[in-house]
Amino acid sequence: MKNMEVEVPAVLVVNGPNLNLLGSREPDVYGKRTLAELETEIGRAAAGLGVDVKFMQSNSEGAIIDFIQQEGPAALGLIINPAAFTHYSYAIRDAISSAGVRAVEVHISNIHGREEFRHRSVIAGVCCGQICGLGFSGYLAALRFLCEKPGDK
Ligand code: DQA
Repeated sequence: MKNMEVEVPAVLVVNGPNLNLLGSREPDVYGKRTLAELETEIGRAAAGLGVDVKFMQSNSEGAIIDFIQQEGPAALGLIINPAAFTHYSYAIRDAISSAGVRAVEVHISNIHGREEFRHRSVIAGVCCGQICGLGFSGYLAALRFLCEKPGDK
């Protein structure tokens, strides 16, 4: 018999450049926990909420855009920490709005309390909202929000 398994819509979790170095990169700013630990925590929370998650991390703008184009339209939502791309990538912004996916922008640090160039996000305007400064908890809050019914506030 043919395998009739249907893919269930997942929440996408995208981490941008240099976030592969979590744990060793500026631990005073980003903490001592690794990307693998972050993904494990999100995976556990997602299982509790009964949703699938798909993780991706890339240091390349094009790879992030390709992933959003491929996975975004059918996804339940997108949690994205675009890292430094936050501040200048109109291409990632366009990919999110083209995919029509509900997105939440997350930053581990409080970008508004840091250098001037980090205060501006070109991505936040195509997201439901932005969470910053809450460390790993920001991703979990974003996950809970995206699992609520679309339109719930
Ligand atoms: C960051 C903040 C960005 O300004 C920075 O370039 C990063 C990480 C954060 O999670 O706090 O790489 O997105």
